[in-house]
Formats: sequence, C-alpha cells, structure tokens
Amino acid sequence: MNKPLENIDPNLVPKRKLYTGAEIPAVGLGTFGSDRFSGEEIAAAVFEAAQIGYRHFDCAAVYANEKEIGTSFQKIIASGIAREGFWVTSKLWNDAHAEEDVISTCKQTLADLQLDYLDLYLIHWPFPNHHAPGVDVDARDPHALPYIHENYMKTWRQMEKLVEMDLVKHIGTSNMSIPKLDLLLRDAKIKPSVNEMELHPHFQQAELFQYCLDHDILPVGFSPIGSPTRPERDTMPGDTVDIEDPVILKIAKRLNVHPAVVCVKWAAQRGQVPIPFSIRPAEFHSNLLGVIENPITESEMQELSKIDKGSRLIKGQVFLWEGADSWEDLWDANGEIASL
Ligand SMILES: NC(=O)c1ccc[n+]([C@@H]2O[C@H](COP(=O)([O-])OP(=O)(O)OC[C@H]3O[C@@H](n4cnc5c(N)ncnc54)[C@H](OP(=O)(O)O)[C@@H]3O)[C@@H](O)[C@H]2O)c1
Repeated sequence: MNKPLENIDPNLVPKRKLYTGAEIPAVGLGTFGSDRFSGEEIAAAVFEAAQIGYRHFDCAAVYANEKEIGTSFQKIIASGIAREGFWVTSKLWNDAHAEEDVISTCKQTLADLQLDYLDLYLIHWPFPNHHAPGVDVDARDPHALPYIHENYMKTWRQMEKLVEMDLVKHIGTSNMSIPKLDLLLRDAKIKPSVNEMELHPHFQQAELFQYCLDHDILPVGFSPIGSPTRPERDTMPGDTVDIEDPVILKIAKRLNVHPAVVCVKWAAQRGQVPIPFSIRPAEFHSNLLGVIENPITESEMQELSKIDKGSRLIKGQVFLWEGADSWEDLWDANGEIASL
C-alpha cells in the first residue's frame, strides 16, 4: 500500500512579491483538465491540494469547471482556511473582450467560484474571437481579430474598473509579447502585476522573461512540465518533450524524483511561478514539496539554461483571423504586431 501523503506547511512554501507589495505563493495548482477530466475530478483535486498545503489556484472561465471549483472553495473555507489565506486567479475569455462584457463576465466567474473577490484577473489571450471548446486546430472563427491596441485598451480599462470596484485585487495579462506589453505599459493606469506565459525548460522565453522582471511584472509559467498529456490536436511534429530530456532525467535520478518535479523546481528557482496541473495527489504533492526541499544545484541550473529548444507547445492556431499566415503571427517574433 502507498504511504499516506504528509501535509506540507503552507508557510514553508516560498512567496513572490508583486509590485503592489502583495505576496503570491511560488507555486500554484493548474485547473485546465483539457478533455481528460471532469469538473468534479478537478474540483476534488483543488480541495485535496488545499488540504495538503496548496494556497494558489489558477482558474479560468473557459476551463468550464469554475462552478465545481467554487464548491471546493466553500469546502476549503469551511475546513478552516480563511479566504485571505489562499490565492485565486481567473481569466477573461476571448469572447468577452467587449467593454460591456468584462464586468458582467467577471461577476459570473465570482458567482461560479463563490467568492467575493479574485486575487488576480487576467485577459486570457490578447485576441478577441469565439470558438467552441475542443475544436480542431484548423477551425477558424470568421470574426476573429488580431491584436488591436485601441480595442485591447478598452478591455483593459474595464479590468482597471474591476480593481476600483474591489472585485479584483490585481490584474494581469497572458500570452503577450514584448511589443504588445510595451503599448500596454505606455497606456495603462494600472499596470499588469503578472504576465502568464508558457514556460518550461524547452521553452524558456529568455527575452520576454527578462522584460517582465525588468518591468516588475511577475512571470507566471504555464505548462511548466511541457504539458505532456495535452490533447493530440495540440501536438505538432517537432514538438519536444521536456520530461524525456537527458539533462532533466539526470537531475531527476540524482534527486530520486519524477522528471516533472525537476521542471517545477527549475521554474521556481529561476523566479517564475509555475502552475503545474495534476489531479493525482502523489503528483501534486511532489510538485509542492519540490519547491521546498532539495534544490537543483547552481551548475545544474546552468545546464538547464542550455536546453532551451524554443519549443512552443501552446501555439494558439485556433485564434487566427482570416488572412493570417500562421500561428507565428500571434507571437510577434520579428518585433512587429501582426495586423489585418
Ligand atoms: N494562460 C494560458 O493561456 C494557459 C495555457 C495553458 C495552461 N494554463 C494553465 O497552466 C496549467 C498547467 O499547464 P498544463 O496543464 O498545460 O501542463 P503541465 O502542468 O505542464 O503538465 C500537466 C501534466 O503533467 C503531468 N504531471 C504533473 N505533475 C506530475 C508529477 N509530479 N509527476 C508526473 N507527472 C506529472 C500530469 O499528467 P497526468 O494527468 O497524466 O497525471 C499532468 O496532466 C493549466 O492547468 C492551466 O491552469 C494556462
């Protein structure tokens, strides 16, 4: 029989400071179960994770499980963990960027999550579009639009209003690029506290990562393990697998942990906040423990810094607008924002 998992004192989990002075736990639990797990299963993991010591949960309306997770938050509070004692992020989906939709959509998330406020609300993607969940990567919304700064700022103003209304403590971005952030920083009244971005050893985004640090924006790293079980439709030839990398395997062997845990350690030690997903207690327990004990050595960190393969896994193809060339248009790699 497996040994029961020992609870971890949440006070031992490091915290990162945001420019506002608020502190966010250095690791969170992802809640995007893709099409593999039900909302109930993910909500059960959220409750269980809080019992073993997690105090940070990364949610989103589009994950279609906020109602179930809301029930778990109520149970967490009833178990004696005060609302102020845990961090909740949620995200505004691409179909709700219109000025008149932002506040009501956030209120719906609050109702679903059964909370009075969010610690952090993000614009999930900087592209407005509608598409059904789980559609093929080749599906296109004929009304999808590229990034249009003027429109993004209209959405951002509503995000700022949510802070003024005290429904949201912090606001932030996700899936942004440096040219887009340059514009937002120029025009925002309330600057983003966080940029959530894909970050794992094979996709280190060194330039954007450093840009965030230089501008006091905390990088939150999604798919920190390289999303090894993402749906087939999100895989492309040429994608690499972090947890099969020889450097990661070597470190995992030395520490006697799963390679996934090495990815989580690397993330936390580098300075981003990883939000690994798992509904399996042994996995999410080892991920939390990973940021507390047995750090990776300096020379291993050096080795890991050299295994970046520029392997973006979450490419965002379904968000392309008509006339766009390829998913690369979403990421402004040549320093220019793609337009219609
Ligand atoms: N802002 C955005 O646009 C965005 C995009 C993508 C993701 N996210 C967020 O980031 C979170 C994490 O990303 P992700 O779900 O794509 O991928 P991930 O965290 O990189 O990988 C998750 C998978 O890794 C496996 N795993 C986790 N811990 C493990 C361990 N200790 N040992 C062995 N295997 C382990 C699990 O596989 P099994 O399930 O098979 O056990 C799990 O499904 C999401 O849930 C979501 O909250 C945000």
